[in-house]
Amino acid sequence: MAAKRILVTGASGQLGQCLQATVTKAMAAKVLWTDRDQLDLTKSEEIAKLFEQHQFDYCINTAAYTAVDKAESERDAAFAVNAFAVAKLAETCAAHNTTLIHPSTDYVFGGTATVPYREDQAVAPINVYGASKEAGESAIRSKLPQHFIVRTSWLYSPYGHNFYRAIRQKLEDGQALTITTDQTGTPTNGLDLAAFIWTLISEKHKQYGTYHYSNTGKATWYEFALAIAAGLSKKHENQVGATEHYATFAARPAYSVLSKEKIKEVFGVNPPEWKASLHQLMNHD
Ligand SMILES: NC(=O)c1ccc[n+]([C@@H]2O[C@H](COP(=O)([O-])OP(=O)(O)OC[C@H]3O[C@@H](n4cnc5c(N)ncnc54)[C@H](OP(=O)(O)O)[C@@H]3O)[C@@H](O)[C@H]2O)c1
Repeated sequence: MAAKRILVTGASGQLGQCLQATVTKAMAAKVLWTDRDQLDLTKSEEIAKLFEQHQFDYCINTAAYTAVDKAESERDAAFAVNAFAVAKLAETCAAHNTTLIHPSTDYVFGGTATVPYREDQAVAPINVYGASKEAGESAIRSKLPQHFIVRTSWLYSPYGHNFYRAIRQKLEDGQALTITTDQTGTPTNGLDLAAFIWTLISEKHKQYGTYHYSNTGKATWYEFALAIAAGLSKKHENQVGATEHYATFAARPAYSVLSKEKIKEVFGVNPPEWKASLHQLMNHD
C-alpha cells in the first residue's frame, strides 16, 4: 500500500502538536508538517506552490485564528484566516483531488439548546470567531465535496495555550481561582481528537461531510477546573471557587454540548468520557 501523502497546516499549534504526538508508523503516512513560516494560509500563492510541488492525498488544516476575544476587534484578521484562506485552500484541494480534514468549533452554535447539538442543526454564531469559522465551513461545503469538517469543543492538551494548562499552572502557583458556571460544554482532550482525525485517513472512510467529535458528558468551566484540581491533589480543590458570570469581550454560547450520535453510527467511534480522559492525560503529563 502506497504511503498516504498528508499536508498538516498550523503544525506548531495545539492540535498540530497533538497530531504529531499521535501519528504512528503503522499509518504509513508521509506527512509534511508546516507552521506559519513554511505556509502562511493567507498567502494563496504559497498554498498553490506547495500543492504543485507535492501531490497530497489529504490536508489537515489545523491552522486557524483562535483568539476568541481578540477577534471581536480584529474581524478582518479572523475572517482572513478562518474563512477566506479556507475557501482558497478548499479550491486548491478540489483542483488537486485532495481530501480536506478541517476542524471547526461548537461556537458556530448559538447556545440556546438544552440537549446536544446535532450536525444538521441550524448554526447561529454569537461572536466573530464563531462567525468566521462558520464562513469557513460554508466555503468548504460549496467548493469541495471531499471534506471532513470536524467540529470540536473546549480543546485542551499538554501543548500550547489552553484552559487545562493555564488552570494547572495557577493552581500549582497556589492561586485562588473563581471560575464561571454559566457555560456548559464538553472539555475535549486534543490527543483523543487527533486519534479520531487519523482514523479518518483511510480508504474505507469516504462518507464525507460534517461531524462532531468531543469527549462525552458535559461540564461547566467551574467543573472542568475542579476536575483539574482533583487530578493534582485533594488540597488543590479548595483553591477553586464558582461565580455565575465572568465578563469576557466576546459572548460565548451558554450551552454547546455536541451530539456524538453520527460518529458512532458512521465510524463506530465512542469518544472517552471527558473526566476519565482528563485524568488519564494528567497521569502522563
Ligand atoms: N482551542 C479550542 O478550544 C478549540 C475549540 C474548538 C475548535 N477549535 C478548532 O481546532 C483547531 C485547532 O485549534 P488549536 O487549539 O490547535 O489552535 P492554536 O493552538 O491557536 O493553533 C493554531 C495554529 O494556527 C497558526 N496560524 C494562525 N494563522 C495562520 C496563518 N495565517 N497561516 C498559518 N498558520 C496560522 C497559529 O500560528 P501562530 O501561533 O503563529 O499564530 C497556530 O500555530 C482550530 O480550527 C480551532 O478553530 C479549537
